[in-house]
Amino acid sequence: MKTLAIIQVPFLFYFFRNAVLEGEVNKVGCSLPTARKTGTTICGVVFKDGVVLGADTRATEGMVVADKNCSKIHYISPNIYCCGAGTAADTEMTTQIISSNLELHGLSTGRLPRVATANRMLKQMLFRYQGYIGAALVLGGVDCNGPHLYSIYPHGSTDKLPYVTMGSGSLAAMAVFEDRYKPDMEEEAAKQLVRDAIAAGIFNDLGSGSNIDLCVITKGKVDYIRPHDEANKKGIRTGDYKYKGGTTGVLTKVVTPLDLELVDESVQTMDTS
Ligand SMILES: *[C@@H]1O[C@H](CO)[C@@H](O)[C@H](O)[C@H]1NC(C)=O
Repeated sequence: MKTLAIIQVPFLFYFFRNAVLEGEVNKVGCSLPTARKTGTTICGVVFKDGVVLGADTRATEGMVVADKNCSKIHYISPNIYCCGAGTAADTEMTTQIISSNLELHGLSTGRLPRVATANRMLKQMLFRYQGYIGAALVLGGVDCNGPHLYSIYPHGSTDKLPYVTMGSGSLAAMAVFEDRYKPDMEEEAAKQLVRDAIAAGIFNDLGSGSNIDLCVITKGKVDYIRPHDEANKKGIRTGDYKYKGGTTGVLTKVVTPLDLELVDESVQTMDTS
C-alpha cells in the first residue's frame, strides 16, 4: 500500500483496532484469515496513436494453478479496456459495475465515455471500500482527448503514466519497460514491447504463466488478440511409458487367506434418480 503522510493518521486507528481484534480472536484459539496473494502480470503502454494492454493468463489458488488460460483484459466500453490483477472475483465484478455505469452515462450524454471518467469511477469505488476490494487495475483507452493509460491500486490511488505494470510480475515487466520504452513508438514496436514485458513476468514470476493476451486500442478501433502468443507450448509425448508385463521379476509370493465370519448381509438397489 502506498501511503502519503496525510493519510497515515486514520490508518493508525485501523492498525490498533486490528491488533485488538487479532488478540481477541487468538484468545479463543483461532487465527485471523490471511491476505490472499494472487499472481499476475499485467501492463500497458501508450504509443503514437493509441494504447496497448497486455496480460498473462494464469489464475492461481494458493500453490495450485486453477486456470491455465483465463482472460484478464476486461471490457469497459467500446473505446476502453481494463486489465485486472488481485482477487479474480473482485476484478471481474468491479470492471462489470463500472462498465454498466459507463454504458448508462454514455446513453445519457450521447458521447463515448472518457478514460478519465472511468478512472474516477473506479478509484472512488475502490477508496470507499478501503482496500477490501482486492482489485489492482491497468486502465487504458482512446477518447476525444487522445490515448490515456492509468494504473489503479486497490486502495484507490491512481497514476497516469506512459507505461505501467501491475501484479506480482510487475517488477519483471517494469524492468523491460524501463530498458526499452521510447515516446511515440509505432504500433508493432509497442506490441512487441508489451509482449516481452508480459513474457518477463511469465518466466520470472511463479504467480504468472501460460499465454500472452494483448489489446490494441486506437481511435475508433479495438484489436483484442487472445492469445497473441503461447509462451508455454505444451510438449508432445515422445516416449512410451507403458511397461510390458514381467518387466519386473516376482521373487516371492505369499497368499494369506483372511478367515472372516459373515455376520449380516443386506442388498440395496442403487439410487439413480
Ligand atoms: C485460450 O482460450 C482462447 C479463447 O478464449 C482460445 O482461442 C485459445 O486457443 C486458448 N489457448 C489455449 C492454449 O488453450
